[in-house]
Amino acid sequence: MIRAIDWETFRELRGSDKREYFTRDGTIFHVVMAQQFDRPFLDYTCDLATKIRGIAKGNQGMLFLQSLLQTKRAMLYFVQPSTRTFLSFMSACQILGIKCSEVRDPTTSSEMKGETQEDTLRTFSSYVDLVIMRHLQERFAEKVAWLLNQTGRPVSVINAGSGRDQHPTQALLDIYTLHRSFENYGGIDGKAIAMVGDLLRGRTVRSLTYLLKNYEGVKIYFVAPRDLQMGQDLKNYLEESEVDFEESENLEEVIPLVDAIYMTRIQDEYDQSGESKKIDYSRFHFSGKHLKLLKPNAIIMHPLPRRAEISTDVDQDRRAMYWRQVRNGMWVRVALIAKIFRADGEIMNY
Ligand code: CP
Repeated sequence: MIRAIDWETFRELRGSDKREYFTRDGTIFHVVMAQQFDRPFLDYTCDLATKIRGIAKGNQGMLFLQSLLQTKRAMLYFVQPSTRTFLSFMSACQILGIKCSEVRDPTTSSEMKGETQEDTLRTFSSYVDLVIMRHLQERFAEKVAWLLNQTGRPVSVINAGSGRDQHPTQALLDIYTLHRSFENYGGIDGKAIAMVGDLLRGRTVRSLTYLLKNYEGVKIYFVAPRDLQMGQDLKNYLEESEVDFEESENLEEVIPLVDAIYMTRIQDEYDQSGESKKIDYSRFHFSGKHLKLLKPNAIIMHPLPRRAEISTDVDQDRRAMYWRQVRNGMWVRVALIAKIFRADGEIMNY
């Protein structure tokens, strides 16, 4: 039984203390923030995603997966633009036999008649078993998960990107990509990872940073223009968690030091008054000339969409992993949804 708690008290809890509110009978129920995941969960999710990938290679396997959650329904509420996250969640639901409905344009919902966003989300939840949501407002997915916990019919909420704050399922697919890439090279433990670009406003790098604290001996290089460096809250978190990190403005100096380089675009949709235009972002672009600086077994990642942060002549290099990340995202999301609805045991036994 979940303890009743008011929103103001709940929002002030540490991420790790919120875990019990995102869990039902020992199984994950809501996916809201990267701090809710621990190492056993991450390892298991990677193994489950790999198992699903294998099963899905054959027609019989696909039919088995589609039989698992045929009675479930999901609502995809995406009111911020998305290509990959929306389509990979839609595909993940279809793979598991879940029926989907969607709202992508809030002007078509009764929010336009003055209904609060909270009431709108509660209404959606009345029709489905799962709400997958992307929203401009930081922590709104968390608030919806808290709100639905207070109702007589709570349904699962998955945060598919919440403003500048978090993108926990992107971080899971990034971990899965790192896990697969370093499977024969000692795993993620002990690796050096550079995050490059707009780290202040990039939610993918924030969520991935939270997840990396689950790995031993990881070192993170934050490579960013001074005004777009990683937020102090995350740096405090790493210090408390005793994760080694360094800040830099020099991409070329950092490239030879790392096992993975995670490029990101400038997040100028969050500009207040055109401040991105004053920043020379070209110093944070990775091009073909940088490939010779990179270790032979290092990988290049990007959550996408990209602009000019990675030139297209890098795409053919075997170390470029960003297109694999896209596909990995679908498998990780299948694994996550299967776990939420407790279909993972059947999958593992297949
Ligand atoms: N990586 C990612 O979140 O992409 P979309 O914005 O296209 O969903």
